[in-house]
Amino acid sequence: MSDLQLSDIRKSYGSLDVIKGVDLDIKSGEFVVFVGPSGCGKSTLLRMIAGLEEITSGDLTIDGARMNDVDPSKRGIAMVFQSYALYPHMTVRENMGFALRFAGVAKAEIERRVGEAAKILELDPLLDRKPKQLSGGQRQRVAIGRAIVRHPKIFLFDEPLSNLDAELRVHMRIEIARLHKTLATTIVYVTHDQVEAMTLADKIVVMRGGAVEQVGSPLELYDDPANLFVAGFIGSPKMNFLKGVLEADGSGRTIARIPDFGDVTIPVAVEAGAAGAPVTIGIRPEHFNETGPAALDLTIDMLEHLGGETFAYARQGQGDLVVIETKNGRGLKSGERIAARFDPACALVFDANGQRLR
Ligand SMILES: Nc1ncnc2c1ncn2[C@@H]1O[C@H](COP(=O)(O)OP(=O)(O)OP(=O)(O)O)[C@@H](O)[C@H]1O
Ligand SMILES: [Mg+2]
Repeated sequence: MSDLQLSDIRKSYGSLDVIKGVDLDIKSGEFVVFVGPSGCGKSTLLRMIAGLEEITSGDLTIDGARMNDVDPSKRGIAMVFQSYALYPHMTVRENMGFALRFAGVAKAEIERRVGEAAKILELDPLLDRKPKQLSGGQRQRVAIGRAIVRHPKIFLFDEPLSNLDAELRVHMRIEIARLHKTLATTIVYVTHDQVEAMTLADKIVVMRGGAVEQVGSPLELYDDPANLFVAGFIGSPKMNFLKGVLEADGSGRTIARIPDFGDVTIPVAVEAGAAGAPVTIGIRPEHFNETGPAALDLTIDMLEHLGGETFAYARQGQGDLVVIETKNGRGLKSGERIAARFDPACALVFDANGQRLR
């Protein structure tokens, strides 16, 4: 368990700025997940924490001690990568104990720690197998076991489950959640998977272009995104964005008119903005229902029936597609005209710069 602090952390490769000043406060025992588009700097940031990448400027501290120039092996950190990179000629037991043997830890202690990790990860029956005799999920557990035996203060995971099939991913996701509960260690975890981020994280860090866009609990980011980028990034299917214009309704309240959808107007709970100001209205797919006070007049273009729920892709005329999520979609037909009803109180409003208006 350890606190981890990043203060104005930057990374440049020559004139290319890849990490542009990241401040982050990670509390002891917290499970923090980094998300963001490919190339936004997630792995680079993780590698700088691990000491595998030099920090160009800023301060990295663990439990108050500056770590920028401390050797990776002395930071109390263990990292698990997407590729497990197990030694093919060694057994599971030898793979898991390798780093300890290398560090000169006594044989009995290695045995003890490997046994302890094997128990946590249910690898006992597999200790004498070679990696090629294991499934993908079992190999991934060995890679995690190799990190556990080192008794790190902080675990770093870089997309550890992305090579696994869907079922194994779910299984391993639950294993990792359990591991965090058992070990109570600080974890920093990178993923592209929405469900992993939402379910595992105490705190999600949304990155874009080498900077942090927003930090918060999964539901804070989902319900209360600070800007258009976070609103669009968190949630699957994505939030719908409709172009609107702010107006005064005559009785001092602000409404938004949505020209692309038949000039429908909805009340918006924002500080009276300049009339005529362009805004974006965000509505999540699941916020459409059959009873809301506002409605979009749409024609269904395509349907995806997932069994328990249906995603309807609908539009007005040749306009943008709107995604509607419903539990009662089995009777819908493509080509059918529907009133997609919603409660305007659920709609989020963003200004022309993508910042949230409240
Ligand atoms: N050694 C390097 N030299 C120059 N640029 C690099 C180097 N390593 C990474 N970059 C650049 O830094 C940026 C961040 O890369 P990084 O691997 O951290 O992204 P990421 O968020 O992990 O992406 P992904 O989701 O695809 O794994 C990218 O634009 C990448 O091209
Ligand atoms: Mg990466």
